[in-house]
Amino acid sequence: MDVIVGGGIVGLSVAWRLARSGRPVTVADPAPASGASHAAAGMLAPVSEVTYTEAPLLRLGMAALRRWPSFAAELAEDAGLPGAVALDFRTNGTLDVAFGADDLAALDELAAFMEKLQLPVERLTGRECRRLEPMLAPAVRGGLLAPGDAWVDPRRVTAALLAALDRLRVPLVRARVSELLRDDGKVAGVRLAPPDVPAPALADGGVPRRLRAERVILAAGAWSAGLAGVPVRPVKGQIIRLSSAQPLLGRCVRGTVHGSSVYLVPRGDGELVVGATQEEMGFDTRVTAGGLYELLRDARELVPGVTELEVADVVAGLRPGTPDNLPVIGPSGTPGLTLATGHHRGGVLLAPLTTAILLGEEDELAALCSPGRFQEIS
Ligand code: GLY
Repeated sequence: MDVIVGGGIVGLSVAWRLARSGRPVTVADPAPASGASHAAAGMLAPVSEVTYTEAPLLRLGMAALRRWPSFAAELAEDAGLPGAVALDFRTNGTLDVAFGADDLAALDELAAFMEKLQLPVERLTGRECRRLEPMLAPAVRGGLLAPGDAWVDPRRVTAALLAALDRLRVPLVRARVSELLRDDGKVAGVRLAPPDVPAPALADGGVPRRLRAERVILAAGAWSAGLAGVPVRPVKGQIIRLSSAQPLLGRCVRGTVHGSSVYLVPRGDGELVVGATQEEMGFDTRVTAGGLYELLRDARELVPGVTELEVADVVAGLRPGTPDNLPVIGPSGTPGLTLATGHHRGGVLLAPLTTAILLGEEDELAALCSPGRFQEIS
C-alpha cells in the first residue's frame, strides 16, 4: 500500500491516479483541500507567468498545461460530474497589461524575451486590450495576450478529487502525520498525531496511530520540510474572492501597476479572484489589512469596477517554495519514500504532470524535478 501524506491538489491527484491504476492507497491529512489549494486562484498560465530565470519551469508548465484537458475530463467523469466545465476549466487565455510607462517598458522587454523563446504571445495596444476586456481602465497602456493559457477552479477540482476517491473507496485518514516510520534504513509508514484518528485507520497490526506502507508519498506542501528535510519554505499568498451577478472579465487579466503585480481570475458564476501577495513570513496565515489593501489598490487601477463587487472571501495560503523554484518529484534517496512537493506557485498547474512523472510517463521532465539535487533530503 502507498500512504500519501497531504490532501491538497497534488496529494489527491496522485492518490486518484494511483487508485485508478489499481494501486491500494490511503491519504492522510487533518483537513484535506484546505491549504494552498483552497487559496489558489487556479491559473494554468505557464506562458504569462514565465520569468527570465525559469526556463525549466516553463518546460514543466507547458507539458502540464497539455495534460489538463484530459485530466479535467477524466476527473469530471470519475467524480460523476457533467464534464470539465463543472470544474470551471476554461481556455480563454491570459491578458497581461501595463499601467504606467515604467510597466509598459517592462512589458516590452518581457514580450521580446517571450518572442525569443517562440512563445505564442501577441502584443496589443491599450485600445486593443480594452476591445478584448471592456472593463479595463482607460489608463491601461498596452498588453500581451497569451491565448493558450487556461484556468480552473481549484476548489471544484479538489472537491471532484475527493468525490472520485470516495467512489474508488480510497481511505482518507483525517489526521496529521507527525513523523515517518523508519525501519532498517527504509521508510515503512507514518505515525499519526492524536486526536481525530478514525477507528478503522488504527487497524494496523494492532499498533495504534500508525499506518504501515510499502511506500510513503510526501505531498505535504510547505509542511514537507519537517517530515523529510525537503528544502521547502512557506511563501504566503493572500487572495480575495469578490462576487458579482455578471462576470466582469472574459479571461484572466494580470498586470503591473508601477511595478506591483496583481492578477484577476474570473469564474463562470461571476466570482472574481484577486491575488496574490508573495510574503516570506514563515507559517503565518493571517489575512492583513496591508495585504488586502495592496491587492485592491492595484486591481482597482486596472479594473475600476472591482470596487462595486461584494467581498465573498479572503484567505491566505502557503506556497511550498524551493531554492530553485522547481518542484521535487520522484523517489528520494531513502527506500520507501517518494516526494511530490515544492510546487511553489504552480501546484494547480503542475498536478497532472506530477502524477504522470510518478507513473513513469515523463522521464525526461522527471530529471528536472529530481529529489537528488538536494543533499539534505532523508
Ligand atoms: N500562481 C499564482 C500564485 O502563486 O499566486
